[in-house]
Amino acid sequence: MAVIADRCSEIQVTVVDLNAERIAAWNDPDLSKLPVYEPGLDAVLGRCRGRNLHFSTAVDAAIASADMVFLSVNTPTKTKGLGAGQASDLRWIEASARQVAACARGHTIVVEKSTLPVRTAAVIQQILDSEKGGKSFSVLSNPEFLAEGTAITDLENPDRVLIGGEDPEAIEALAGIYGHWVAPEQILRTNLWSSELSKLTANAFLAQRISSINSIAAFCEATGADVREVAKAIGMDSRIGPKFLQAGPGFGGSCFQKDILNLVYLCRHYGLEEVAAYWEQVVALNTWQQHRIARLVVTKLFGTVTGKRLAVLGFAFKANTNDTRESPAIRICRDLLEEGAQLAIVDPKVPAAQIAKDLGQAPSAQASDGGGGGGAQGGWQLARSAVEAAAGADAVLLLTEWAEFGELDWEGVAAVMRKPAWLFDARATADGSAARAAGLNVWVQGQG
Ligand code: UDX
Repeated sequence: MAVIADRCSEIQVTVVDLNAERIAAWNDPDLSKLPVYEPGLDAVLGRCRGRNLHFSTAVDAAIASADMVFLSVNTPTKTKGLGAGQASDLRWIEASARQVAACARGHTIVVEKSTLPVRTAAVIQQILDSEKGGKSFSVLSNPEFLAEGTAITDLENPDRVLIGGEDPEAIEALAGIYGHWVAPEQILRTNLWSSELSKLTANAFLAQRISSINSIAAFCEATGADVREVAKAIGMDSRIGPKFLQAGPGFGGSCFQKDILNLVYLCRHYGLEEVAAYWEQVVALNTWQQHRIARLVVTKLFGTVTGKRLAVLGFAFKANTNDTRESPAIRICRDLLEEGAQLAIVDPKVPAAQIAKDLGQAPSAQASDGGGGGGAQGGWQLARSAVEAAAGADAVLLLTEWAEFGELDWEGVAAVMRKPAWLFDARATADGSAARAAGLNVWVQGQG
């Protein structure tokens, strides 16, 4: 919405939420305190907040005065009831649709921005159409393909914009907004169901590439091949392409797992068991990859990490974001805590409160100095720098590819660690030869 406001100065954009604290944070004069860390977002807000971009809790009034309403609410995986663990929870979508139905005036275009199961638009349309009193609605699907950390550039230069719908006038109204900065041939128009399914399919294909390269990474480690050489060799085949072939600790983020599980659920619903099983394996491989990394850390450290201090570099699901949803670091750290490890975690953007929530345990009061002297209970603490985290540690685990971890002075890090010391580079972004030269044992993803 910020980018739309930035590019279309004649359009008034009002972002509304029931959560007053969150809206207040978006209105904070200090642009370094925005609730979402996203490179370049502060500059966009600096240009248009208060001009034609507003943040408000007056939901009903904003709906009443809007020509177009974007539904951008959460659709997490259901945790209980029918479809638990796989189906999307649509309660917030339904609640928003009801609120739009109640408050809208005249004709309103309702755009599905949240990623939704196929045919959700029909549900929204039904709810809207049940409202009487001279109101009318057109429902469009306009899935978002931006990736976190590069959201602003992805929005400013999208590969394509996808608009699904049945009402040509509504489609052109939305296309007209994107037309302010996106070339006409990049604005695709499809039917509603194709648009909804394209989003799930794009995420499933992207995640599948990551599971594919991670499966080959494990095989490379077993055979002496190097996954980065393999990725380069296959990526030069123009039919395969070089992107999304970076082996790592598995994919995280709010979308991939949720959307694939949703696809799996829908396939089963339509009786396509083999198709469901095929996509389910992409998630299974991802989970396995995360457990595999925790297991190999334990194995290399003489079969036990109980009471040992381990430095964890990075907790966000990828670099340049403070988002930890489904971060591979969560499962890996939980496995190591289960083994009784003392973790010293450092991440440039993730606060301690978030880590505590994700790990299901508060930080320990006292810093363990490692040395095997701690109790059998695993614990964790936040560290301010990689060197602080590494002090007294038996191993450093690189889990998120923040640029600063690629530039570490390994002499300095090795000097404060207990020997024999290890670097486990799950992202293959550290300077492995410098770490080796500093006397560390080094394991690199896809290389062994
Ligand atoms: C993704 C899709 O890219 C985006 O189009 C969609 O709108 C939302 O989901 P996002 O989750 O923000 O975006 O990040 P992305 O860059 O796709 O990375 C997802 C995960 O895959 C991260 O954990 C990342 O570290 C991992 N990844 C990505 C790899 O392990 N290897 C790669 O080569 C690429």
